This record gives sequence, structure tokens and C-alpha cells, in this order.
Amino acid sequence: MPEDAADSAAGRTRLGPRHVAIIMDGNGRWATQRGRPRLFGHHAGAQRVREIVESCPDYGVEYLTVFAFSTENWKRTQAEVAGLMNLFRGYIRREARALLANDVRVRFIGDRVRLDAKLTGLMDELEAMTAGCAGTNLTVALNYGGRDEVARATKRLAEDVGRGRLRPEDVDEETLPRYLDTCVLPDPDLVIRTSGEARISNFLLWQSAYSEYEFVDTLWPDFTREEFRRLLESYGRRDRRFGGVPAQGAAAR
Ligand code: IPE
Ligand code: IPE
Ligand code: MG
Repeated sequence: MPEDAADSAAGRTRLGPRHVAIIMDGNGRWATQRGRPRLFGHHAGAQRVREIVESCPDYGVEYLTVFAFSTENWKRTQAEVAGLMNLFRGYIRREARALLANDVRVRFIGDRVRLDAKLTGLMDELEAMTAGCAGTNLTVALNYGGRDEVARATKRLAEDVGRGRLRPEDVDEETLPRYLDTCVLPDPDLVIRTSGEARISNFLLWQSAYSEYEFVDTLWPDFTREEFRRLLESYGRRDRRFGGVPAQGAAAR
């Protein structure tokens, strides 16, 4: 049996990742290296997103999830946080048309409660505007933390149990993720982090249980579609075993 057929018979994805998640890190250092304020790096970083989103159809990536702001990023100075919130508002306003033209369906994950009404209004509008798009699924994690997401999910699950909508004995690995912000998304196949840090910083904790990881030194504002392609190709050479045994032919690699 050819290797790819053997892989698909075993239920493995071998040709390329369907869902890629990116921790877009290193904007601050990129700016500092240039003697510029950190926000300059955030603006440069935001501009990189379009090229990566637009490359997804060429590379067979159906879902792209990007980490834009974590539940821990509120610890930064008030000026940086305000600058980032301003950047997110401007980004949605500026990019909406191009996203729609490229058939990109946008979703946001994270806790919206702490975000200002103007921003959440724009987020709602963009989600509604692109709801009919059938191309790339772009998910933006904004005020997102994996632990916070699991805690919020558990709270809603407990409410359903309290109301008699769910029996405790029915809570399992299929039930719990239905309460997560990512309930309509497949788990990420590949998680990329830029900037040389080898940690996940509270990103997609439940969902990335069996994801492949790539940690690259490139600072996010320098990340290109060529580097993205190389990482996707390298993913294609990996053997995802999910606790099983090596695929036929994998030992030879
Ligand atoms: C990532 O870049 C963007 C956000 C966390 C909002 P950083 O701002 O963390 O950049 P570094 O890590 O300080 O270089
Ligand atoms: C992770 O980067 C969050 C985002 C990229 C939005 P951080 O820069 O906040 O992570 P740490 O603090 O280095 O772990
Ligand atoms: Mg950082």
C-alpha cells in the first residue's frame, strides 16, 4: 500500500496541516532592536497577518488561529495595552473588506467581558459580515487564555448540570470541548511560535494535547509565507502517532 494510502487508512493527516495555530511573538523585541517603541513592533506584526492568511488556500490550510492578546497581557503598561486595543479596532476596520474579498471567515475566541464595547461591536460585526465565507477560517484569540477558557466552560457546564440539562455521568472528552470557545473548530494540527521562546503561554491548552510544535527564532514581524511553507512541509514529514505505533515506512525516515 502506498504510504499516503496507509496513512489515510490509519486516519492520519500526512499531506499538510488542516489547522495551524500561531503564537505571534517578538513584536516588542523587533521594535527595540530598531530603537523604536514597542507599539511600532505591534503595528509591523499586524501587517504580517494578511500575507499569512492569504497564503493559506495555496498551502491547503483550512483553519488558521492566531494569538493576538492573552489574558496575561493586561500586565503590560497601560499605554501598551491601550495602544494594542486601538490597533485591534483599526485592524478590523481596515482589513474587513480584504478579508471578505478573500472569502475568509473570521471568528474571535477569548473572554469579551473585559474588552471595551467599541471593540466588541466591531468584532461582532466582522463575524457577522464574514459568516457566509467558505474559504479560510481565521480565528483571532483576543483576551484569550487556555485556563480562563476551561474555567468559563466548566462554569457553563456546571450550570447545565444544575438545570438538569446534562447528567454528570455524561461528562466526557466529547462533552467538555463543546463548552470551549473553539467548539466549532477542529484541534490544531500544528502550533507555531515565533521569537525563540519555547513555551505555550496559556494558548489552546486543551486543544493542543496532540498538536505538533514548531518553535522558530524569527521575530513575528519578520515571518514570511516562505518560512510558513517550510514549516508546513516539515510537518508533512512528521509521524503523528497519537499514542499508537509508527506508521509503515516511518522508521526509514
Ligand atoms: C507579541 O509580541 C504580541 C503580544 C503579546 C501582544 P510581544 O509584545 O510579546 O513581543 P516581545 O516578546 O516582547 O518581543
Ligand atoms: C504570548 O506571548 C501571547 C501572544 C503572542 C499574544 P507573550 O509575550 O505574552 O508570552 P510570554 O509572556 O513571553 O510567556
Ligand atoms: Mg512576547
